[in-house]
Amino acid sequence: VRRVYLDYSATTPVHPEAAEAAWPYQNCRFGNPSSASTMGRDARTAVEAARASVARFVGADPDEIVFTSGGTEANNLAVLGVGFRSLARGGRVITSSIEHAAVLGPVQFLERLGFRTTYLPVDNLGRVNPSDLERALGPDTVLVSIMLANNETGVIQDIPSLAQVTHRAGVPFHTDAVQALGKMPVDVGNLGVDLVSLSGHKVYAPKGIGALWIRKGFLLAPIVYGGGQEKGIRPGTVNGPGVCG
Ligand SMILES: Cc1ncc(COP(=O)(O)O)c(C=O)c1O
Repeated sequence: VRRVYLDYSATTPVHPEAAEAAWPYQNCRFGNPSSASTMGRDARTAVEAARASVARFVGADPDEIVFTSGGTEANNLAVLGVGFRSLARGGRVITSSIEHAAVLGPVQFLERLGFRTTYLPVDNLGRVNPSDLERALGPDTVLVSIMLANNETGVIQDIPSLAQVTHRAGVPFHTDAVQALGKMPVDVGNLGVDLVSLSGHKVYAPKGIGALWIRKGFLLAPIVYGGGQEKGIRPGTVNGPGVCG
């Protein structure tokens, strides 16, 4: 029996080049990228080279890439990071009814903390209508989160138009680009958004690595606290092998 794997949107195998890139950093070059030792600095150099390459891939500045444990954490950091920033005054989060659970979950959590929420519907082609979004936006809106490509239908949203409508109202915009990366161009400048979630294992990297692109100057509250890694936005020892992969 010949097995044919047709589920690359669920996950991809690790590409031999990615495995080769990761290997030294879990063996002879295993230093902690935050250590001042020679080993640590060696790992840091590799992490920064990887950061630059991820940034190049999405048209970003390396400073704007924060490594996470994957797409789920990137989405949680984006949604909760904005929510926690405005915890005292609350507000409304707008998303769509077709988001991945890694966006719907944190949005529902904010709801339990007292935030108001709007789940925009999609039309018969699975698209969010920018005029529905325009109507939903109000002075209390703190975030709009709408995915770039859907994980079940593959429908691509018109993110530049949705982000434009959102920014006109002075509201930040997050997009989950996990299913888009590698299948269509993902350029943060062209998307015109503030936050973009990425995941490694959908594009031949190992599982357990991802990133959040955060527009320069955009303030986000951390959702975990620790040793201050990744500029304190995502503390925790950086996953050197995963990042290099
Ligand atoms: C659209 C979308 N967002 C987020 C995720 C979660 O990414 P990860 O598996 O890296 O946590 C997935 C994974 O299937 C996804 O399809």
